[in-house]
Amino acid sequence: MVRIRRATAEDLDTIINLWLALASYHEKLDSAYKLSSRATSFYRTLASDLLMRGLVLVAEEDRRIVGFLTAEIFYNPTFVPSLQGRILDIYVEENYRRRGIGSQLVKEALKWFQANGVQCVLVNVAEQNKVALNFWSKMRFRVLSRKMILNL
Ligand SMILES: CC(C)(COP(=O)(O)OP(=O)(O)OC[C@H]1O[C@@H](n2cnc3c(N)ncnc32)[C@H](O)[C@@H]1OP(=O)(O)O)[C@@H](O)C(=O)NCCC(=O)NCCS
Repeated sequence: MVRIRRATAEDLDTIINLWLALASYHEKLDSAYKLSSRATSFYRTLASDLLMRGLVLVAEEDRRIVGFLTAEIFYNPTFVPSLQGRILDIYVEENYRRRGIGSQLVKEALKWFQANGVQCVLVNVAEQNKVALNFWSKMRFRVLSRKMILNL
């Protein structure tokens, strides 16, 4: 039975390991996602910060963390609604996929956004990540823009 709960500082090392798995998955998708030598320490700082000002959820089965999600709320004065949500990362361990854990993480995050007055939520998805594109469509997200890159 999977339990979704808010993460604490004690979960940080496990979350960083899952984030590294997420990062290495993206490194294989496109060379633009190659990690810098400072990435892990940068991510540790970001995740600690999100524990306080954002949302960090973990999915636990038999007291083992098998997935996580991070999110934040930000103010975008250019558009309305200006209070917007952003899901930064979501990852479920391979052996636990296709069992609804990712959906449960997102549903909990959406509840948190709604409780905080957020009316629209953004997520960045790699164009090559077909599984994630399917997943977000199933979660009722639609494509808003395409990020393009040129290597010089
Ligand atoms: C994307 C991810 C979080 C989904 O987690 P999950 O726990 O497997 O998701 P769910 O079981 O809740 O799936 C919900 C729906 O998403 C879609 N989906 C999920 N995995 C899929 C796959 N491999 N192929 C096609 N559709 C898929 C399906 O519509 C699925 O519903 P269904 O099982 O009833 O058909 C997981 O695959 C993952 O960690 N991937 C690697 C990291 C990643 O890509 N993160 C997203 C970055 S934007």
